[in-house]
Amino acid sequence: MLVLTPFVLVVVSAVTNAQSGLAPKKFLSLPLGAITPTGWLHDQLMVQTNGLAGHEHEFYDYVAQTDWVGGDSYYSYLEEAGSYWFNGMVPNGVLVNDTTIKSQTQQFLDYVLDHQDETGWLGPEVNTTKPRYLWGRYPFFFGAIQMVEADPSLTDRVVTAFYKFISLANTMLHNGEGLEEWAETRWEDFVITLQWLYDLHPNSQEDLLIDTMKMLKWTGDPWESVFDEQYFPTGPVEDLENPFPVLTWHGVNMAEGLKALPATYRFTHNQSVGDQIVTDMWSRQYLQEQNQIAAQNMTPNPFPEDGPYSNVFGLEPNYPCCTVNHPQGWPKFISNSFLTTPDQESLVHLYLGPFSTQTTLAGGNTVSASVDTLYPFGDTLTTTIMAEKAFTYYVRIPSWVTNGTITVNGGSAQPVSPQNGLHAVKASAGITKFILNLPAEIMTGKCIF
Ligand SMILES: *[C@@H]1O[C@H](CO)[C@@H](O)[C@H](O)[C@H]1NC(C)=O
Ligand SMILES: *[C@@H]1O[C@H](CO)[C@@H](O)[C@H](O)[C@H]1NC(C)=O
Ligand SMILES: *[C@@H]1O[C@H](CO)[C@@H](O)[C@H](O)[C@H]1NC(C)=O
Ligand SMILES: *[C@@H]1O[C@H](CO)[C@@H](O)[C@H](O)[C@H]1NC(C)=O
Repeated sequence: MLVLTPFVLVVVSAVTNAQSGLAPKKFLSLPLGAITPTGWLHDQLMVQTNGLAGHEHEFYDYVAQTDWVGGDSYYSYLEEAGSYWFNGMVPNGVLVNDTTIKSQTQQFLDYVLDHQDETGWLGPEVNTTKPRYLWGRYPFFFGAIQMVEADPSLTDRVVTAFYKFISLANTMLHNGEGLEEWAETRWEDFVITLQWLYDLHPNSQEDLLIDTMKMLKWTGDPWESVFDEQYFPTGPVEDLENPFPVLTWHGVNMAEGLKALPATYRFTHNQSVGDQIVTDMWSRQYLQEQNQIAAQNMTPNPFPEDGPYSNVFGLEPNYPCCTVNHPQGWPKFISNSFLTTPDQESLVHLYLGPFSTQTTLAGGNTVSASVDTLYPFGDTLTTTIMAEKAFTYYVRIPSWVTNGTITVNGGSAQPVSPQNGLHAVKASAGITKFILNLPAEIMTGKCIF
């Protein structure tokens, strides 16, 4: 499984809304490009760019082929390899401003949109007898949304193509078509795309969007039950029987399933809250372990589901999926690290790390923030805010912090006092500088291997 923790965070609104539309988001994201990585995080993104991820398109057939018509590889293009690659490399290319990567992702977008068929289908199943399953398109949608954020002139083309596809997908779902076990597991990814349209480009199609969301949920795996305390596995699973479809215990699916709860809340208004987060990068693993003690053919095979090569580094140990999907972690971590409140009065620093961002808040208040830190390799973060007008800045304090302190503008250290995980800092017009110190209790644990 591809491990992206500890950066998984799910936030839902605490306000219950009796209306039939979508509940409002609790925070709004900033467009791709508004946040840039600095310090060790910029270095790491450059390592990835100069490594396998940034060069895959030059040689790896699953993403490098230039023509899908007649192609029948399961992994190619939108079924699923190209789609994964696109989703990761769109933000990677923008964040490091790499002309080559940006032209590869543009070419990919153009190819896919130019080959949408009359029915609205997107993908290589056109004019073949291959069955049409929905899921492979979902990471492509995320990549296309990010391209629109970085280049708003693409909006009409992308939104038009999405709506053509959605009206086909809606009919398919009502006819029980387009679903297999991966589509049933990862339905929330499509819901999130539908919610992006609803929020920003509803085009009077709200009923179609909500109906499609409901169809996806009712035909998909029941994530709220999978995460329910009475069913959730808390130990080794090889001798347990999964009461739900077997893929719900696949690590990646579980991580993705966390998104299903807030995504569902927005259209059912039913509340459940989840708050949970070196090499030259020319190779990757299938199973990643913290403090890994071996990277070799493991015989006897200790992995209950995966082969003995699962923790070996390479181009393709086990499946190609991680080769094409691994690049999305760092760019997505960066581009989601800051949010704004729905009234756009406040900037919210969600994921801790070295970043800088600039945006214009409500009332034309242009603000910037830059965070100087080694975090998570150190406990201290120094943030410099510049603002035209006074505003409230929020920073997330992880729940494991013990005796955390904040020092504002060289004053005395004060205990942090987060509410719902966020500490408010009063930023004045001009420069505000604060230092967070976030210590943790040292805990001992046991490694099972
Ligand atoms: C990105 O690169 C292009 C071409 O090299 C350059 O014109 C542009 O200013 C760069 N953008 C940023 C934000 O650095
Ligand atoms: C599918 O086949 C029809 C009939 O041969 C052709 O007109 C159409 O262009 C083909 N579509 C694609 C996307 O290749
Ligand atoms: C809300 O979700 C909970 C947990 O999944 C479920 O038990 C309950 O039946 C749902 N309520 C409604 C009104 O759907
Ligand atoms: C937090 O403060 C208490 C009281 O001063 C102290 O006993 C404890 O060791 C501190 N914990 C950490 C992680 O610093």
